[in-house]
Amino acid sequence: MLLSSVATLLVPLVDWLSKTPENHNRTPNKVSHVAREPLHLELRHLHAVDASSAHVVFSDVSPEKLNTLSALDSSTSTKPSYSVRPRRTRTYRPSSYAAHVRARMRSLELGESEKLEWEEDEIEGPDVESRETLLELAKMTNNAYVEPEDPAWYDLNGRWNISLPFGWEPESDGFRGHVFATPDNKTVVISIKGTSAGLFGGGGPTAKKDKLNDNLLFSCCCARVDWTWTTVCGCYRGGWKCDQTCLEDALISDSLFYPIGTNLYNNVTYMFPDANIWMIGHSLGGALASLVGITFGVPVVTFEAPGERLAATRLHLPSPPSTHHVTHVWHTADPIAMGICNGVLSSCALGGYAMETACHLGKTIVYDTVSNASWTVDIRTHGIVNVIEKLLAEPWPFSVEQGREVPEPVPQKDCVECFSWEFGDFD
Ligand SMILES: *[C@@H]1O[C@H](CO)[C@@H](O)[C@H](O)[C@H]1NC(C)=O
Ligand SMILES: *[C@@H]1O[C@H](CO)[C@@H](O)[C@H](O)[C@H]1NC(C)=O
Ligand SMILES: *[C@@H]1O[C@H](CO)[C@@H](O)[C@H](O)[C@H]1NC(C)=O
Ligand SMILES: *[C@@H]1O[C@H](CO)[C@@H](O)[C@H](O)[C@H]1NC(C)=O
Repeated sequence: MLLSSVATLLVPLVDWLSKTPENHNRTPNKVSHVAREPLHLELRHLHAVDASSAHVVFSDVSPEKLNTLSALDSSTSTKPSYSVRPRRTRTYRPSSYAAHVRARMRSLELGESEKLEWEEDEIEGPDVESRETLLELAKMTNNAYVEPEDPAWYDLNGRWNISLPFGWEPESDGFRGHVFATPDNKTVVISIKGTSAGLFGGGGPTAKKDKLNDNLLFSCCCARVDWTWTTVCGCYRGGWKCDQTCLEDALISDSLFYPIGTNLYNNVTYMFPDANIWMIGHSLGGALASLVGITFGVPVVTFEAPGERLAATRLHLPSPPSTHHVTHVWHTADPIAMGICNGVLSSCALGGYAMETACHLGKTIVYDTVSNASWTVDIRTHGIVNVIEKLLAEPWPFSVEQGREVPEPVPQKDCVECFSWEFGDFD
């Protein structure tokens, strides 16, 4: 067994793995913990991906529609406005997006590093230590409450009436979500609904490619589980060897996972040019929210996301001085967030996926449901409804005991993943 530091082999430039996140010692001002008035976020748009062009498309939610929703309001999940408590959050944004793209491309294509300037900023982010705030954000990542009947979809370049984008069919499980805003448009939250089975569900021209990309981003070596398994790329070299160059070539530039997130973000900044934007997401949607958040320096909260640190490395994302504006919330009975959904008979393997990554960037709020609440590790605990109803709806006694509303947000310590693999040049 070789404890290889994947990052040094993958990309000398990107030092996600070696960097301790705590590399600035300034303590945040105490002022930041004064309780603030909650923000009220209301639903404005739906977003999805147009299957033919892979563009992000939007549909407006009319005020009438919202009124209908509030009239129907019998359960909390149809509530049209969400209250979240803000608090000061330090973020790092690249001097410009163009500079970020340049640095990333140089690393990706030439293996060279380029110094990128990061601007430190202190903005309003969500108060992740407030249970009620996490609960509201979790509800916002659950899109069960609005099923568009016949929404008129459009992209921002003026193309109207794109017929049903991929992922909105009730039975499909694709990449989609909502855009919320405060009445003054000053705070905007982009939610990305997750999926545990691929970005585009089961069809469309991009489906096959994306299944491949998910497996490259969230598994160690092309989703090889064992000898019975058909891998998604040919980089396996026998034993526990995986060819690094092969992996990178297989992934490279046409991975749609990350560009869909950056397009979504850029499109929303165009719609709300002066807004302070937050990203939230469940499962793979959370992993994507985080990758976008560390690109643009925006606050992020995810629920039950698979580890995205390896994906950040494989995508050659330049690493900001700190990623503490990203907070991952998960519990220990969820095999996807824990990175253990990969046995031959696991539900992930049955769907053609190996979810093996376990290391998350930023801070983590981990509910130990296995030791504290005797939950059994089970894919069915992964769902956002479970998180809303079983994890966040009531105070968590094991935190309350310690005088906290939620488990303490801390960076993941000494996280190791894919440790039995050796990555290198084997050809
Ligand atoms: C929105 O994103 C698309 C890619 O999906 C991009 O081509 C377009 O230029 C963006 N529009 C704006 C106004 O940012
Ligand atoms: C969009 O186009 C479809 C046919 O492609 C049509 O049935 C539908 O009514 C149109 N919707 C709107 C809002 O124009
Ligand atoms: C907020 O943005 C919407 C468009 O999404 C616009 O119709 C509305 O007038 C804006 N409200 C304020 C207060 O700027
Ligand atoms: C809850 O779990 C933590 C470890 O995550 C442990 O330290 C603590 O003792 C547990 N509390 C109870 C009451 O089981």
